[in-house]
Amino acid sequence: MKAIVITTPGSPEVLQLQEVEDPQIKDDEVLIKVEATALNRADTIQRQGKYPPPRGASPYPGLECSGTIEATGKFVSRWKVGDHVCALLSGGGYAEKVAVPAGHVLPIPSGISVKEAAAFPEVVCTVCSSVFMTSRLSAGETFLVHGGSSGIGTFAIQIAKVRGVKVFVTAGSEDKLAVCKELGADVCINYKTEDFVARVKEETGGKGVDVILDCMGAAYFQRNLDSLNFDGRLHIIGLMGGAVTEFNLGSLFAKRLTVQATGLRMRSPENKAEIVNEVEKNVWPAVVAGKVKLLVYKQFPLSEAAEAHRLMESSQHIGKILLIP
Ligand SMILES: NC(=O)c1ccc[n+]([C@@H]2O[C@H](COP(=O)([O-])OP(=O)(O)OC[C@H]3O[C@@H](n4cnc5c(N)ncnc54)[C@H](OP(=O)(O)O)[C@@H]3O)[C@@H](O)[C@H]2O)c1
Repeated sequence: MKAIVITTPGSPEVLQLQEVEDPQIKDDEVLIKVEATALNRADTIQRQGKYPPPRGASPYPGLECSGTIEATGKFVSRWKVGDHVCALLSGGGYAEKVAVPAGHVLPIPSGISVKEAAAFPEVVCTVCSSVFMTSRLSAGETFLVHGGSSGIGTFAIQIAKVRGVKVFVTAGSEDKLAVCKELGADVCINYKTEDFVARVKEETGGKGVDVILDCMGAAYFQRNLDSLNFDGRLHIIGLMGGAVTEFNLGSLFAKRLTVQATGLRMRSPENKAEIVNEVEKNVWPAVVAGKVKLLVYKQFPLSEAAEAHRLMESSQHIGKILLIP
């Protein structure tokens, strides 16, 4: 089969389409003929050599895909050859075929095309496992999403609104904020022209928000703590603003704050299967009902993976970028 190989750590041109061995499935896995895969920020970090795949995972990038089941392992009963599915991957999506544990596979929600469904698994599983399963964001609470127009952000806004939450977002342009507003965001903050801490305080009568989904890490750490309400939860899923910082522990005491962090890819297969199961039970119905839309900004042929990475690193996109083998 053909796959995108990271020929050496570096800039996008190190991504090369090459002929490689087909993946072999284990007894509890299925083989998916990939119809589409979607980019995630983590792919760009893997390409730079700073995010190696977990042990046993495919060396090729790609954390999610959609397609058709081509073969099933002997312990797999739920899926059969010919089923259209999407799947959460530990790697290997940038390829014509990928092997994945059967428990990490989801049906295509009705009303969504097989191709578009590639954009769902990683964002949905990340947001569910962090914001809802761990940080217990609940109806009536307030929620700040940094990077509201990102793949993660565009989904987080919509699912939080479905669950009766007031949503605040940050983004770096008025165009991006307009899209966030259309998706349901209640308070839209341009982080380039406004102080998000001051705006959050102003909009919450000085209290702060209950949960923050953060992709900036060190750069926003103290300001995030300053933006939380009593019993607030800061959930960090990205370190785009660095990993090392100094902060005032006193701010945790005064407001009884919790700091949490989640990496989806490194979780055990069993743990990922629990998240996938939760997504199918509690998120898929909202997708089927048309309450959560997918935002696909652009699609590229798999052979143009380097171009797709350049687009993601330019941050011009809103929502997801697809690759089509
Ligand atoms: N832990 C996990 O399991 C997990 C899983 C998936 C994703 N993630 C993380 O989630 C984040 C989003 O991922 P993605 O794939 O959706 O990437 P993406 O679409 O490229 O989004 C990156 C976002 O970061 C925003 N951003 C950059 N600087 C910012 C700042 N100073 N303040 C606020 N926002 C800022 C960008 O918005 P502007 O253009 O408006 O600046 C952009 O929307 C990444 O950090 C990624 O690593 C983590």
